[in-house]
Formats: sequence, structure tokens, C-alpha cells
Amino acid sequence: MYQKDEAPSFDNVPRHIAIIMDGNGRWASKRLLPRTMGHREGMKAIKRVVKACSEIKVKALTLYAFSTENWRRPKNEVNYLMDLLIEFLNRELQELHENNIKINVWGDYHSLPPKCVDEIERARHLTQHNEAMVFNLAINYGSRTEIVRGVKRWGQDVLDGRANIDDLDEHMFSSYLYTHDIPDPDLLIRTAGEFRLSNFLLWQVAYTELWITDVTWPEFTREHLFQAISDYSKRDRRFGGLNSPKREGKNVKSKNI
Ligand code: FPP
Repeated sequence: MYQKDEAPSFDNVPRHIAIIMDGNGRWASKRLLPRTMGHREGMKAIKRVVKACSEIKVKALTLYAFSTENWRRPKNEVNYLMDLLIEFLNRELQELHENNIKINVWGDYHSLPPKCVDEIERARHLTQHNEAMVFNLAINYGSRTEIVRGVKRWGQDVLDGRANIDDLDEHMFSSYLYTHDIPDPDLLIRTAGEFRLSNFLLWQVAYTELWITDVTWPEFTREHLFQAISDYSKRDRRFGGLNSPKREGKNVKSKNI
């Protein structure tokens, strides 16, 4: 386990880390608190993780903040999450900007409450030229919707003569997705112990390394993040081929914490 405040130097920092932040409700219930308090505590974990990723020079961090399915939750919980988003952007925007972090939102955020749309657009506009790290928030996001949106946009390009059916391949199709300008995630972290993808980046995680922990999101610290990266860096990524030259002859198993 990494020591507090230590920012280790890794040989192999993932370029893109994606996280399914789960377990806010369980964290709260265990403490006899309302679920919304779990989300509030989860907001603090977001801050820790963004800071740690920026310190070790991760190029892209993507957090699953609100899925297209999360609208099925009670209205007061949905409203609370929207208010937290506004609060988070309000509080953190300046510091994120000063750290040269670009904020992006994946998903149909235009159907969120107007105040959320305004905050998102303010954040995107202010940070659009930042280059140190891109921080993507997936909000009102679902991977199947993203893929259908991509197909429609490509189909429109075919109809308008900007694209040709015979030219379509995986690389070209990827250019119609939110990830068009960044690499696929190298590492996907899921907290709170469930072994599923929950409609998150289904196209993009084809060769992503998965790291799942029982730790709930509000409890997730930078030390957990560093452990995940350390385990990731010991994995043998073969992308369907044989052992990578770097790992030839070794059989390193990753461990969870
Ligand atoms: C899953 O926990 C988490 C979410 C649905 C949303 C994640 C939101 C935050 C971390 C709050 C702050 C967000 C922003 C963008 C500032 P859950 O409620 O499904 O937990 P459970 O499975 O234990 O019920």
C-alpha cells in the first residue's frame, strides 16, 4: 500500500484512466446516513483522484458521473446529484484551470437542468486550450447511446457525401465517438466490488485492463489509485498477440487490495 501523500514515479503511467465510481449509497447506508451524503463524500474522492492523476501526469481521466439509466432514481437524489455537479464546478473550476486541466463532458448534457448546462459550458469554454490533462465527466452518458449517435453521424456524412461506406473501418468509426481525440482507456477502475461495465465505454474498453476493488468510492484515496496503477504496470498487455517483448518469460499476476 502506498504511503499517504507520496506521489510515486511509475515507469508505465496509463495514458487514460477511466473510473466507474460506485458504492456511494452503500457507504452512506453503512453509516446510517442518507444516500445523498454518500454522493457528497464521493465528490471529495473526485477531487483527490483528479489531483493525484494530474501529479503523476496521466493524460486523460474519465469519470462515470451520471448514466442515462440514473434518471430512474428518486427525483430528490437526481436533483441532489445535479446540484453537486454545479457545486463541484463552481468550487473547483479555477484550480483545475490553473493546473492546465481541460474539462470535457461526454453524454447529452443539454437535457440537464439549465444551470448545469451553463456551468458545464463555462467550464468547457474556460479550459478548452489546457493541455496537461483532459478530465472527462460522463454525464447523462450511456455507451450504447454513444454508439448509436456515432452511427447516425456517420450515416449523415455518407448521405451528405463526406464519407464512403467502403472506407469505414474501426479506426474511422472511432472518430465518431466521444473518445475521437484521445486514446482508449489503458486502465478501468471500478469501486464497490461489482464485476460489470454498466454501459460504460463498451467500444473503447476492448483491450483495457480492469481493476476492481471492494473499496467504495467515497473511501477511495490516492493510495488506492497508485496501487491500481502499480498493479496495472505489472500486467502483460498482449492485445491478442503473444507476450509483449517487455514481459517475455514473466508471468506476473496483478493483485487487488
Ligand atoms: C454510484 O453510487 C455513483 C453515482 C451514481 C454517481 C457518482 C456521483 C458522484 C461521485 C457525486 C459527485 C459527482 C460530481 C460530478 C461532482 P451509487 O449511488 O450507485 O452507490 P450504491 O451502488 O452503493 O447505491
